[in-house]
Order: sequence, then structure tokens, then C-alpha cells
Amino acid sequence: MRMVDLIEKKRDGAELSKEEIEFIIQGYTTGEIPDYQMSALAMAIFFRDMTPQERASLTMAMVESGDQINLASIEGIKVDKHSTGGVGDKTTIALAPLVAAVGVPVAKMSGRGLGHTGGTIDKLEAIPGFHVEIDTNEFSELVNKNKVAVIGQTANLTPADKKLYGLRDVTATVNSIPLIASSIMSKKIASGADAIVLDVKTGSGAFMKEFEKSKELAEAMVAIGNNLGRKTMAIISDMNQPLGFAVGNALEVKEAIQMLKGKGPDDLLELCLTLGSYMVYLSNQASSIDEAREKLLDAIATGAAIKKLKTFIEAQGGDSSVVDDTNQLPEASFAIPVKADKGGYIAKIVADKIGLAAMTLGAGRATKESIIDLAVGIKLHKKIGDQVKEGETIATLYSNSENVDSVIELVQGSYTIVQEKVVAPTLIYETIS
Ligand code: URA
Repeated sequence: MRMVDLIEKKRDGAELSKEEIEFIIQGYTTGEIPDYQMSALAMAIFFRDMTPQERASLTMAMVESGDQINLASIEGIKVDKHSTGGVGDKTTIALAPLVAAVGVPVAKMSGRGLGHTGGTIDKLEAIPGFHVEIDTNEFSELVNKNKVAVIGQTANLTPADKKLYGLRDVTATVNSIPLIASSIMSKKIASGADAIVLDVKTGSGAFMKEFEKSKELAEAMVAIGNNLGRKTMAIISDMNQPLGFAVGNALEVKEAIQMLKGKGPDDLLELCLTLGSYMVYLSNQASSIDEAREKLLDAIATGAAIKKLKTFIEAQGGDSSVVDDTNQLPEASFAIPVKADKGGYIAKIVADKIGLAAMTLGAGRATKESIIDLAVGIKLHKKIGDQVKEGETIATLYSNSENVDSVIELVQGSYTIVQEKVVAPTLIYETIS
């Protein structure tokens, strides 16, 4: 086989076979196929697309390019959840103990990541003592015992994806549905999930801004998962404004704790109940989605979910007293109000700008080397559809510096206030199974 012939085949719109795709991915991982040929192929895929069979083969070839986590020693059907990411998305922190409380084994591999706030692991590390440096044996034991554990990404997972993603980033080929879908799904499958629930965000703060594109991506990922024998479902959820009210690591942990106590924001609760119901159902812990939802509501009402969160924190070295007294979480020195410059109704909150504002306060990493400040962030007091008076506080900045004029401007500028009433956006647009 010659790479040049395969590039030509894809360029002309023909379907690559499983063997041809394996040849490409193996050769690219070892370095035998150079970046310039892979770039040409990525561009051909960008314009010619891939068939469902090609997408599944590409995903599997990337899974096989590195280590695969074997979760066989964990009892039950392991359901993983993945979000395409957004501002204020603290779902995993609440969802993991919530579904574990009704018997779903949650063996979660998470990352730190770049962006407006840290990743799930950074957020969890806002809890004093909490750590993810556990080996894979301890990880399996903890999931068997407590139904929930989180581990950092230590293994050499999907190196082909890592290399290809880097190449796509500099060759204008990131924004290709078959390449994004296979990239995300390869990581989920290599992490050992039996079933996968996907939260594809859509809107101004999402990676996919347009609904039709988000739907196409969700359908592509569900098809790959099901094609490869993993029961997969997806929802398309709103990211036209941050999720919940808190953006920032310790602030988001606090909000997730409040939610598990039944006192959290409605949107976060609804998202957790929807994603959680699918996880419980796919894990065979309920015979219908409705029954699954009832079980989750019950776990919150009886305190089983909050108890599970405490067990989870203690098992990974954390101080679980923060659950009863959230004031023990890191706190910033200054709380600075951001006021509405006029009265009316909130029509828009550009989530990306709120994310950037949180990052400017120090909540996120601009480079891999940046050190994040777990205490800082932003709390919104007004969301889309809310009425506001001139001079009323729309948000509070939690900062370790008083020099935040530019951040105040950024937050003010992210809000659009109009005179006519505004309807709050739908949270969950569609489910794909
Ligand atoms: N996230 C990924 O993991 N891969 C992509 O290709 C795009 C977003």
C-alpha cells in the first residue's frame, strides 16, 4: 500500500477500507507516514467526508494506536459521560456521585486542560487533600467498593489522535465532523467505557456554535459508538449562557455540592437528571428513563447522593467536611460587584466572554505551564430572561486582586439588556439514541 494512492482515493471521493485506514494510522503513529501526507489526507476528508464504516474504522485504529484501559475487573456496566465543553460546566462533579448513589459504576478518567477554568481534576483539587494520583488497581478497587473514582490521564491513550489533532490545528482541518467525532470517541473507547452518554453543547459558548452542526456531530458520535458495540446516546444542550451561576474552580465545586443537597440551580439539576437518567438506564439500573429519573431524585431527597460525594472525597484523600461547610473551600480575598448599566431584561450573556473574564482573574490556564488560582471566579446573579434594575448587581467577581476594571468591563460587555421581555432559552434541545 502507498499513502499517496490512499490520499488520491479519498481526494476522488471513494471509500477507504478498514485495512487501508489501519495502514494510515499505524504508519502515522510510528512516523513512517510524514505530516505532509497526513495533512493532505485530512484536507481530503474535510472536503469528501467519511462513510459511517470509515468513521468507525478510523476511531478503532486510533484506539489501537496506544494503551487501552481494561475495566473488566469492575463489576457492572461502566457508563462514561462526555461533554464537548462549555463555561461553568461542573456537571461531572455532581453527576458522578449522583449516579453512583443509584448503583452505576463510575470509573472516570479526567484531565486538567486549558481554558477559562481548569478541568474536572483541577476543580476537584479545590477540595483540601483530594488527589487523583492512584494506580489502576486502586482505581478499580475503589469503583468496586464505592461505585465511583476519578483518575488522572496517565496511560498513553490514543497517541494517533494526539498527533493528528495537533496537525489539524495548524492545517485548518479541526472543524470536520468525521475527524472530531472519531477523535472524541477514540478517547472514550480507549478509556474502557461499555456505554457512553454524550452532552453536545450548542450556542455562543460552545465549540459548535450552530445547532445543525451540533446535531450532526452528536449523530456522528452516536453512530460510531453503536457501530463499535458501545451503547451510546447523546443530548444537545444549550451553551448560550454559562451553566448554573458559578464559573471558577472552588465556586463550581460549591455549586455542585449545593445541587446534590437539592439547593442547586435549576439548569444544572435538570442537566444532571437528564444525563444521569440515560446513564442509569444504559447501566441496567432501571427499566425505563422515567424510573431512572425517579431513582436520581430519590437519591437527592434521601441524602444518599451527598453521602456518596463524601465517601468519594474521603476515598481519594480529601477532607469531606467541606460538604457540610463549603466555606472551607478556597476563598478569594475580594468580592467585587458588577452592576447593570441600565434596567430591562437580560437578552444575552456571551458565555465565551464570561469564560475569558474568569480566566483573566486566574481561574484558567492560558498555557500548560500556567498556575491556576482555585479560589477565583465569577458568580452570575442574572441569567437570560431575568429582569434587572439600573445599578443592580448582575455578577460578582471573586478575585485576589483589586485591580479588575478590565474584567468588570468584560462582564458588563457580555450582557445585553433590552426593554422588552425575553424568554429564557431551552436547556435541552434534542436527544439522539
Ligand atoms: N475535541 C477533541 O477531543 N477532538 C476534536 O477533534 C475536537 C474537540
